[in-house]
Amino acid sequence: DFPVVTIPVYVHVIYNTSQENISEAQIDSQIQVLNDDFRMTNSDSNQIPTEFADRAADTQIQFTLAGVTRTFSERTSWGTRDDMKRSSQGGVDPIDPANYLNIWVCNIGGGILGYAQFPGGSLDTDGVVVGPQFFGTQGYLAAPFNEGRTTTHEVGHYLNLRHIWGDGRCRQDDFVADTPDSDRANYGCPSYPTNHCKSNDMTMNYMDYVDDACMYMFSNGQKLRMRAVLEPGSIRSDL
Ligand code: ARG
Ligand code: ZN
Ligand code: CA
Repeated sequence: DFPVVTIPVYVHVIYNTSQENISEAQIDSQIQVLNDDFRMTNSDSNQIPTEFADRAADTQIQFTLAGVTRTFSERTSWGTRDDMKRSSQGGVDPIDPANYLNIWVCNIGGGILGYAQFPGGSLDTDGVVVGPQFFGTQGYLAAPFNEGRTTTHEVGHYLNLRHIWGDGRCRQDDFVADTPDSDRANYGCPSYPTNHCKSNDMTMNYMDYVDDACMYMFSNGQKLRMRAVLEPGSIRSDL
């Protein structure tokens, strides 16, 4: 077992419309979802099929809100080139990214819910970006991505997780032994069992592409992969 790790979080709200200037309650609701999902206290974990039940993990990673910044911008969408992370581009620089998870909440555009930087990238752009209407569970939200799972998914990437299907064909690995092979993303709310690559897909994993209401677990193997980057001497050990 591992000691519980608590990751402090800065949230940078960058808004053009007043709706995009999301409330403190909306931010708090997202921190709550992160804690529930990573500690497996999410109320929908009872939907995990028996086949996968003993692989479901309490990652022993939790989150606490360290602070919020709010910045008005004339810009209406930010894309995925990290401009929101640079004050020189009208964005907001990350605060102490070696020691804090930075989350920028701003309109990305192009139908993109969120994106993340994997461990090992430049500290100047380290963290995750999520659109305001996909952040948290109350306030300015857009179904079916209104249960805070976009941030759970992006923080999974930030802690080194790949998509469950390995972004390729059946044998393309996500480097996690207990997540079954798949050759595609799943969308919507797939019924169980959904079978590709001669085994049942773990469609209810946070690292698939299903609707928020239909993802409710990390696996033990994913936990080990995330915990590895938090170990002393590893890449995110200062968090
Ligand atoms: N497309 C994004 C990514 O690959 C996030 C997908 C989040 N899915 C969700 N159901 N909230 O990082
Ligand atoms: Zn992803
Ligand atoms: Ca796997």
